[in-house]
Amino acid sequence: MSVNASASQLTNDPSPRAPAAVRMRPSIATIQPYKPGKPAGAATGKRIAALASNEMPFAPSPAVREAIAQAAAGLNRYPDPHATALRERIATANGVDVDRVAVGAGSMILLQQAVLSTTGEGDELLYAWPSFEGYPLLASLAGARAVGVPLIDARHDLPAMADAISDRTRCILVCNPNNPTGTLLGRDEIAAFLARVPSDRLVILDEAYREFVDEPGYRDALTLLDEFPNVAVTRTFSKAYGLAGLRIGYCIAAPDVIATIRRSHIPFNVTALAQAGAMAALDGAGELHERLAELSAGRRRLAAHARALGYPVVDGYGNFVWLALGERAPQISALLEAEGVISRALPPFGTRISVGTPEDVDHAMQALEQVASAAEPAG
Ligand SMILES: Cc1ncc(COP(=O)(O)O)c(C=O)c1O
Repeated sequence: MSVNASASQLTNDPSPRAPAAVRMRPSIATIQPYKPGKPAGAATGKRIAALASNEMPFAPSPAVREAIAQAAAGLNRYPDPHATALRERIATANGVDVDRVAVGAGSMILLQQAVLSTTGEGDELLYAWPSFEGYPLLASLAGARAVGVPLIDARHDLPAMADAISDRTRCILVCNPNNPTGTLLGRDEIAAFLARVPSDRLVILDEAYREFVDEPGYRDALTLLDEFPNVAVTRTFSKAYGLAGLRIGYCIAAPDVIATIRRSHIPFNVTALAQAGAMAALDGAGELHERLAELSAGRRRLAAHARALGYPVVDGYGNFVWLALGERAPQISALLEAEGVISRALPPFGTRISVGTPEDVDHAMQALEQVASAAEPAG
């Protein structure tokens, strides 16, 4: 037989096969693929502000890039499966013991591990809605029923969420500040909610945007962990630290909760590059303050301008501004895109615009002005 024999010659099958209809788990068949924010796209000659994905507009610092480059020299070896040095560094930065820290390839992976370790077919995953678009995906992956409790005035309705806890609820996700509305829950209202949650149900406080909270006197949810050992806090290097492409996040919780979350951990999911880059980012946390101050100034400027133009702006704390446009969100987002500003429409709720560089903010402000004169924005 010739070495160039085709697959059909090898199997004696004269005709190419029809594509197989592989049987899927029913819950997987229901998954609506996660829609990432539109990237900047091909160069069109006109300025584009890519403000759909809550990314930081700054490139990683030279120190972070240098650490990643050095780690690249050892890529023939598997990374430390326990990410010990990074976990120790995160533990120190947050004043907790290292057995209270888990890391993952993005906080999304940690959320997935937490859900898969607690919630199965027929169980319920509870969260507010609208919130992070990854949550319904997690429910489908687990084969669980997604229970979304409507926000009130763009904020979590924690009493209604407590009422919605059933015998089948296994895990509760609380996004704080909430993506996409930016609204913030205070420590005391979270504590009052946690007091109503049975202690054998896992509550995840998803704090992907924690570092952007510049509310004076804001008390961190980490201080709740001793009182409520069924709580885990997830955070990420993708947002404030500007390392979305590196895929690295962490979780802080009681040691047995960390052990539960790690049950569905796939070995080696955090690369050596991610471990090295995240450590360097923590070493350079001093620079972070300046960047966060610049981002906050941009958020306030954009929100104030949009409000003055008549847009229904929600006061929020992430690196984004939420316009509660309702059903008009896709139309307004399309008009903004025609002005070179790529935003995220989440109908029937609203449009989210990320805060970019000061030039991006200027661009978004001008685009909002153009759109306001073309369409009545009040929602
Ligand atoms: C609220 C929230 N949680 C989690 C994530 C996932 O972040 P990552 O997996 O990049 O850490 C995101 C990303 O946008 C988010 O907005």
